[in-house]
Amino acid sequence: MKVNRVIGCFITFVVAISAVLPGGVAASQDQQKPGPKMPLYLGAAWYPEQWPESRWDADLTLMEEAHIHFVRITEFAWSTMEPSEGHYDMDWVERAVRMAEKHRIAVVLGTPSAAPPAWLTSKYPETLRTKEDGRKDEHGNRQQFDWSNAKYRELASKMAEQMAIRFGHDPNVIGWQIDNEYANASFGPATRLQFQAWLKARYGTLDNLNARWTTSYWSQTYSDWSQIPIETSYGNPGLLLSWRRFVSDTWRRYQKVQLDKIREHSDPRQFITTNMMGFFDAYDHYTVSQDLDIAAWDDYVGTGQLDPVRNGAAHDLTRGFLRKNFWVMETQPGFVNWSKDNNALNKGEVRAMAWHDIGHGADAVSYWQWRSALNGQEEYHGTLVGADGTPVPLYDEVAQLGREFERAGPALSGTEPHSEVALLHSYDSRWAVNWQRHNTAFDPIEALLSYYGPLRSVVHSVDIISPSVPLTQYKLVVAPALNLLSDAQVRNLMDYVHGGGHLVLGQRSVMKNDDNGLQPERQPGPLGAMLGGRVEQFYALDQEVPVAGDWGSGSGKIWAEQLSVKDPQAHVLMRYGKSNGWLDGQPAAITRVVGKGSITYIGAWLDGATMDAAVKWMVESSGIHPLSIKLPAGVDLYVRSREETGAGPKTVWILVNFGKEVATISLPAEMTDVLGSGRVSAVKLDPYGVAVLSKE
Ligand code: GAL
Repeated sequence: MKVNRVIGCFITFVVAISAVLPGGVAASQDQQKPGPKMPLYLGAAWYPEQWPESRWDADLTLMEEAHIHFVRITEFAWSTMEPSEGHYDMDWVERAVRMAEKHRIAVVLGTPSAAPPAWLTSKYPETLRTKEDGRKDEHGNRQQFDWSNAKYRELASKMAEQMAIRFGHDPNVIGWQIDNEYANASFGPATRLQFQAWLKARYGTLDNLNARWTTSYWSQTYSDWSQIPIETSYGNPGLLLSWRRFVSDTWRRYQKVQLDKIREHSDPRQFITTNMMGFFDAYDHYTVSQDLDIAAWDDYVGTGQLDPVRNGAAHDLTRGFLRKNFWVMETQPGFVNWSKDNNALNKGEVRAMAWHDIGHGADAVSYWQWRSALNGQEEYHGTLVGADGTPVPLYDEVAQLGREFERAGPALSGTEPHSEVALLHSYDSRWAVNWQRHNTAFDPIEALLSYYGPLRSVVHSVDIISPSVPLTQYKLVVAPALNLLSDAQVRNLMDYVHGGGHLVLGQRSVMKNDDNGLQPERQPGPLGAMLGGRVEQFYALDQEVPVAGDWGSGSGKIWAEQLSVKDPQAHVLMRYGKSNGWLDGQPAAITRVVGKGSITYIGAWLDGATMDAAVKWMVESSGIHPLSIKLPAGVDLYVRSREETGAGPKTVWILVNFGKEVATISLPAEMTDVLGSGRVSAVKLDPYGVAVLSKE
């Protein structure tokens, strides 16, 4: 069902290129005209409820002129759509949808459950969340609801149902966003009861739970389910992990009651998503994504300028939730209001960032927000028009982007990034490391990025995925800090290597089991026999240690694992130099060939140059042949492709110059300059310059 909805969308996209679009305009082959179906969408968050209706047409006219293709509306409009209990007013929404349609602007509707109205929280105070310190949240902000509360779910799902009945078949509504940025759990007694019931369902008996959490430690043994508390930072590791899993399952259930109502009353062509938050980790995004049609996230830089590596990894993470293209549902029009220093992105950077988004597999980029409300908590946030309703300086840059999306749409339609390399990421592992970092500098995201950046610069596309998904399509799978694995995940990795895959395990890998308890074997636990070696001891480092071997000479920092080789077929790749005595001369990285595959363990957090050499080795020994192209510093290449029947894959390159200098890139073969004209064999990019090139 889920798959069909989205495949359906893609087929429609492709058909739409050669078809007649709403409004009776025939689309040319090289430029997509705005309409409800676009291969690439430019969007903006619009809040018609905050403005007199007499103003809407002027706003939509300006949006149309800026080539905005969709607006996301209603995600905070509960008090306007249901001014008192059971009295729904959707007429104004209908008028906004129709007026947008007149301007050839499609609509994504948000369900408003992130901001319950005052009548609701005062009539049903049990729907307010209880903070961790036991105090009740109250009205006046947003996200003050209790996600585990049955009454709240009932009221939110009734609202979703009313919206879906009214707009589920509306030709100008292309999709749905449920709620907005799930974030806060609730900690009251009713939630605790639910948590205890969840534990009972998972563990069956208290004996089982006590054994798996080793509760004899510090006399934590439970003799009744009601004794089990909620702990979020220094509890028993099994308890901490269970709470986060409960939180994730509860968000999924919270989402599902709304989602089911929308599905029941809507066309399959309307997608359902929610807007997530990159590396935010308050819940397991793989759990919550699985019922959605597409993944989406809100991509904000905050202070400073865009870091294309870190931001790119967040895109690839989001693409990994459902392992296909995604949407950027919100991004900053220049600057935000909530960061430390709310500097603006430089002139040209907003456009460069949007193309970087598309390069990583986004099919839509949407600005938050169109126009600032005259009052409310976010008066200083960046917008595309001022409070006076006229364009701000950034407007023209965004309008250029809109024209470019239309121009490049047909070339990029149906294309996706395809990777031969996957990085494994799991929330369980991140949480487990973060609860017991052992060295405060050991940030699991930084550990992931230490592999991601060098790998991406060689292979130009990396998937970031869960260790539970099939891996056979990858030539190389790298698992940085994959601390905690279930038995099924261990089997998945073993099958991958036995099937000829090349697996690289980074520091702290396979130390824990599915209950956040230690594996009874040394790291990498059940993968040790396959590796032919193990971790003898781990050391949190207070200073760098030298390393040398097949990848040259360099250093390790933060964390070092002393490895040993138990099998004559295992090969020592790197050794530590003189440091704390324990590590001196000991293996720092080892590898073993397994049939046509291999398994490698890297026990050191390598410096940049040594990691580059390690990555070169990984790529070569996995039989990957990266594109041969020399990119000047600061220039990023993104490759998207689609299978073309009979004609081989259709490939589109996006080049973005994040460097400070003008860059010239020689192409390996002539390509079509999609944003410019004709065939080119080299491109010259100003700082923040962009080229979209099609290989055909
Ligand atoms: C997002 C949120 C939006 C808006 C925006 C401002 O996190 O979803 O509603 O507040 O931040 O940057």
